[in-house]
Amino acid sequence: MAINTEELRKKFEERLSQIRNTVEAEGLRVEYLGKKGYVSALLADLKNITGEEKKNAGQIINDAKQFIEKRLAEKQTEIAAAEEQRLIDSAERYDPSLPTDLQLGSYHPITLIQRRVEDIFSSMGFIVENYSEIVDDYHCFEALNIPKHHPARDMQDTFYLDNGQLLKTHTSAAQNYIMEKYGAPVRAIFPGRCFRNESTDACHENTFFQLEGIMIDEDISISNLIYFMKTMLSEVFEQDITVRLRPGFFPFVEPGFELDISCTICHGKGCPSCKNSGWLELCPCGMIHPNVLKYGGIDPEKYTGFAFGLGLTRLAMMKYGIKDIRMLNSGNLKALSQFTGR
Ligand code: PHE
Repeated sequence: MAINTEELRKKFEERLSQIRNTVEAEGLRVEYLGKKGYVSALLADLKNITGEEKKNAGQIINDAKQFIEKRLAEKQTEIAAAEEQRLIDSAERYDPSLPTDLQLGSYHPITLIQRRVEDIFSSMGFIVENYSEIVDDYHCFEALNIPKHHPARDMQDTFYLDNGQLLKTHTSAAQNYIMEKYGAPVRAIFPGRCFRNESTDACHENTFFQLEGIMIDEDISISNLIYFMKTMLSEVFEQDITVRLRPGFFPFVEPGFELDISCTICHGKGCPSCKNSGWLELCPCGMIHPNVLKYGGIDPEKYTGFAFGLGLTRLAMMKYGIKDIRMLNSGNLKALSQFTGR
């Protein structure tokens, strides 16, 4: 009796092509290779044959068995790949029938004001840069014309780390980095979180935000500084803002100023918010000191520039009428979520 597995293989292939998942594949395996399967039945038939013929038949059945095993393994791989693809596809699909009244988050007032100021300065050709919150003494002080033991260091109560680095006390710490990176001419703003060892009250925090800006080119003067500040602030407050400069001391600017803006509440007439003066103190600034330009690799004979250190936290408080600075770091969602229309 000659053994032929052609028919068996053909039937198996037909069945295999209909298999969709691993459970069906396992069923097919049992049907063909299980104890009571077709291959076992063929092997059982061998007992009716003898000699050389038996040997040949055994070989043929074994070949068929190996073929089935191989094809089943290939199918399993194929099913696994299809399953993976299905998972990927379903993850990307979204279900439009899901309810829409979910509790959505809102932007922090600092984020809102920062983005607004970034947009305004970007539209005036300034690049927006990012800088580390952990800095070294050179960038935070020395490159800003504040040598070791200079009394001006006392103006900023600093958190020093064990390795000699420190938490950025002001965004000015990035000035040198920006000058080295871009050279002159340059227009850049760089917002950032700053840290000082303050005891907290309604007006003081140990963690707050500033937004620094520098503009360096040939023939930059105080008029340019006034123009950019006035334009930006009028946009932020959506009203015509008048600014004034008072002398102020910072070792990295000469001359240095405190920039005040006309009170946004009484428009300069005098009210409790501006302590009846008609002015609000907002932003230290000045013309970049020649030493600072030199440290940044820029020739002070050829270039001049202005720098300002806008108190972003203070600006947010003024813009949104926030009375206590501690609210901003409180994580109190009830208070913080009211400034944005989701
Ligand atoms: N870095 C200064 C501060 O935080 C502010 C400042 C910035 C002053 C730029 C002048 C120019 O106190």
